[in-house]
Amino acid sequence: MPVIAVVGNKGGAGKTTLSVNLAAGLARLGRVAIIDADPQGSSLQWNEVAEMGDSISVFAATAAIPTLVRELTGLFDYLIVDCPPSVRAPQTIEVLKTANLALIPVQPSPVDLWATVHIEQAIGDARIVNPELQSLLVINQLETRTTLSRVVREALTEISLPVAKTALRRRAVYRNSALEGKTVYDMGARGAAAAEELEQLIQEVTA
Ligand SMILES: Nc1ncnc2c1ncn2[C@@H]1O[C@H](COP(=O)(O)OP(=O)(O)OP(=O)(O)O)[C@@H](O)[C@H]1O
Ligand SMILES: [Mg+2]
Repeated sequence: MPVIAVVGNKGGAGKTTLSVNLAAGLARLGRVAIIDADPQGSSLQWNEVAEMGDSISVFAATAAIPTLVRELTGLFDYLIVDCPPSVRAPQTIEVLKTANLALIPVQPSPVDLWATVHIEQAIGDARIVNPELQSLLVINQLETRTTLSRVVREALTEISLPVAKTALRRRAVYRNSALEGKTVYDMGARGAAAAEELEQLIQEVTA
């Protein structure tokens, strides 16, 4: 069972948005669970208002995370862990020790991209016990006028984390769907472009 940790070092980067929408997309391929490892409990809150909560199970990381992951193995095909906004948080450190992939949403600003150097260090530390851990930076809230290639060019002068070919654009539907406990997949034509970029990202993640 692939365990995907959605991590970051800054609040508001889009971890919860990516976690729930990725879960909705992956739910078309198999059974998906989210572990909410953030004490803020945003994924849990989303699930409480969610209409389609039945197709995605959300668990609070109240138990030790490795134990919870073991318990869920076999029951689900994909496990997504929504982490707190710090790579130094004990939850994040624990998750990175058991994850297959760290997905790192980051806004396309130089400051945010430079700050990912701490994430790179945390991933390096986790690889000591989890050498198979892969990582992928996902540019989130890309403005229509900015191109991913320019952001990536700027980023790569500072960091060496791999960057997903697919970026998620800044779209009101990400925010609006969350307010209703939905994902972009539930928003019909309004969510189509967002669902399409998520599908592309899922292809990269599951390749
Ligand atoms: N691609 C996007 N387009 C538009 N709005 C977005 C996008 N991604 C995230 N947002 C909005 O940005 C805000 C922060 O996103 P989110 O809560 O997912 O971040 P987070 O990293 O989980 O934050 P925290 O660190 O507080 O847990 C939310 O209001 C969300 O709806
Ligand atoms: Mg969050």
